[in-house]
Amino acid sequence: MLVMMDIIETFLIIQFTICVFGLKNVNIVIEPPIVEKGNSVTIQCNYDLEGELLYIVKWYRGQREFYRYVPQSRPTTMKFPFNGLDIDEDQSNENRVHLRNVDYNLAGNFSCEVSTDAPAFYTNIVSKELKVVELSKNKRLPVLVTDKPKYEEGDVLNASCSSSPSNPAASIYFILNNIVICGPCNTTIYKKEGLWLARSNLLLPLFPSHFNTDNLILRCVTHVTDRYQQEIEIQIYNRPYPIPQRVISSGAILTNGKLLLSCLTLSIFVCFYK
Ligand SMILES: *[C@@H]1O[C@H](CO)[C@@H](O)[C@H](O)[C@H]1NC(C)=O
Ligand SMILES: *[C@@H]1O[C@H](CO)[C@@H](O)[C@H](O)[C@H]1NC(C)=O
Ligand SMILES: *[C@@H]1O[C@H](CO)[C@@H](O)[C@H](O)[C@H]1NC(C)=O
Repeated sequence: MLVMMDIIETFLIIQFTICVFGLKNVNIVIEPPIVEKGNSVTIQCNYDLEGELLYIVKWYRGQREFYRYVPQSRPTTMKFPFNGLDIDEDQSNENRVHLRNVDYNLAGNFSCEVSTDAPAFYTNIVSKELKVVELSKNKRLPVLVTDKPKYEEGDVLNASCSSSPSNPAASIYFILNNIVICGPCNTTIYKKEGLWLARSNLLLPLFPSHFNTDNLILRCVTHVTDRYQQEIEIQIYNRPYPIPQRVISSGAILTNGKLLLSCLTLSIFVCFYK
């Protein structure tokens, strides 16, 4: 009886050990996570078997299985039809699937489900989202225009920025010398080259505080997801006589200006007097 108990106990300990140490660190990595339409993407499934035997790895897009890897079967892999999904089998294995010529309809959640069957059965499923974007073929820059070439205090900066066509449409940021004026700014979307062109208009009253600088640089930054950014900048003000680098407080600038003016007045006065 005692021997029996001992055996059961040992068995339970072994089972417990397996439970704790079986199949670990299952995770999925999509590289690149945002892919340009027509390009390739690798869906990588990482896992530690911790001494377990791999039984099956199943791959899903949404709820639908499109690929599986079973090391014990011949052939080891199996494809299931999925519209627009093109698997490069030479570059796919028990840890990854390589997809070619990715189209929009593949955007969505991809999952891998890993199962072991000996000495114990474990299964774990992990998911990640794939984003698909399309950019204009000619990769032209955004277009930034203002209603005046240069601005002064009291003017209203009137600018408009149009993104390069893309899908999804770009979001637009206006930045004036490192200060984000709006972002994402309100945009209007237009159809262009079968894609979307986003345009944003900016009306910004310019106060004296904006001119506490030698230059005013207006930048328009467009984002098609976080991965694809473009920017363009224009100078809308530059001080005719830049403040020398060493003069930092604006008080000193004013004093210098006044001083200069007084000297000028004095010289003119002296001229006339003579
Ligand atoms: C992907 O999964 C996440 C989390 O479950 C969900 O919020 C998101 O809506 C899914 N995306 C798509 C395109 O189904
Ligand atoms: C801004 O500039 C555009 C283009 O010059 C012009 O059509 C629009 O009326 C201007 N907006 C304002 C409020 O001045
Ligand atoms: C953006 O659009 C919303 C809704 O039309 C409006 O309430 C908001 O004032 C706009 N913002 C700017 C900065 O124009």
